[in-house]
Amino acid sequence: MTAQKQIDLLMSFAKVVSRIEDLDALLNTMAEYAKELVDADRCSIFLYDAKEDELWTTVAQETDMPIRIPADSGVAGYAALSKEIQIVVDAYNDFRFNPEVDQSTGYTTRTILTVPLLGHNDEVLGVFQALNKQNGLFTREDAEILLLISNYASQSIENALLSEKLNETQTQIILKLSSAAEFKDNDTSLHTKRVGLYSRLIAEKLGFSKKEADLLELTAPMHDAGKIGIADAIIHKPGKLSETEFNEMKRHAEIGYKLLYDEDNELLRTAAIIARDHHEKVDGSGYPQGLIGDEISLFGRIVAIADVFDALTTERPYKEPWSIKEAIKYLQDHRASHFDSSLVDIFVEDISEIKQIYNNFHD
Ligand code: C2E
Ligand code: SIN
Ligand code: SIN
Ligand code: FE
Repeated sequence: MTAQKQIDLLMSFAKVVSRIEDLDALLNTMAEYAKELVDADRCSIFLYDAKEDELWTTVAQETDMPIRIPADSGVAGYAALSKEIQIVVDAYNDFRFNPEVDQSTGYTTRTILTVPLLGHNDEVLGVFQALNKQNGLFTREDAEILLLISNYASQSIENALLSEKLNETQTQIILKLSSAAEFKDNDTSLHTKRVGLYSRLIAEKLGFSKKEADLLELTAPMHDAGKIGIADAIIHKPGKLSETEFNEMKRHAEIGYKLLYDEDNELLRTAAIIARDHHEKVDGSGYPQGLIGDEISLFGRIVAIADVFDALTTERPYKEPWSIKEAIKYLQDHRASHFDSSLVDIFVEDISEIKQIYNNFHD
């Protein structure tokens, strides 16, 4: 599977799981995505039943009834006991394998990838299992992907056990996956964090509620998610971009919007609008739409300031970092052409707050 296909699937996974409110349905969906992502024939999720010391299948694709096995048996049991990934290349010639499950389902297991589901205190919640890789054998990379999904599954199970509170987990899933742009743009992980913090600073000075400020801080870091759709050669070009290359680069705003937009999810909807609007300029000379003044969303106008300020004060493959003073002067010089002037004034009001973010989150 190509990296692009994988990122698309992970994004689609994030969107889908964010809508599901019921744990069973959520785990089933995770199993469906896991199956595609690691190219398995089936996936199952076993939960640990401490009282009976058994593992039982809460998800078993193509099988109707739950299957119960002693917690120390089979590959599943090995993963649970050792808390380690188990990769099996030939089940019927592997001492870890327990053929009982096959006997009750009539299935023939050949290859297995099993990862433990661990709670936040490292206790075993269950195991996530992929069976029969479509072509060849399960790889380390498959294990990484299954682990990623398993981490979300574990969090979801724990939260459901604790309080039925799935929402928070889902926010985390979306956040992690939508920083997919960072796969490409390695230098930007702290960049995205700082853009969130600078944006929040402006929001707080504007008197946003905590909820609104949180929303902005969480979504501003996704402003460049669309860069995953731009060629590496352009993203990493050490010098100035040609006009054609820059035109290509500009597509990241619209791509990010399409990638993130989800009508039913406030977080993703907000992130999408920011991705679309963060390169608009108040005089109408920005992109992608050439919007003027407050035709540009307020979140977009805020993130524009945070993003440019951070881009200027940090090193880029094409430029040296500017000093904070120079960057502030730049914002002020463009306070009515590029930026929303009142937001610039608010932002630069107290340089010590800016410096604090700059110093605390510097690469
Ligand atoms: P970025 O590097 O994060 O920059 C974000 C925005 O900060 C830029 O949006 C621009 O408004 C501002 N900015 C960054 N560096 C400078 C600078 O040296 N001088 C001035 N005046 N402004 C600066 P813009 O221009 O729409 O660019 C979007 C993205 O396109 C940039 O994100 C970067 O990834 C890429 N890019 C832009 N110009 C070049 C270039 O000459 N070479 C390369 N390799 N990439 C570029
Ligand atoms: C096992 O964990 O050993 C059984 C795997 C299966 O076929 O489901
Ligand atoms: C980044 O380098 O990740 C941010 C650049 C942009 O706003 O396009
Ligand atoms: Fe951008």
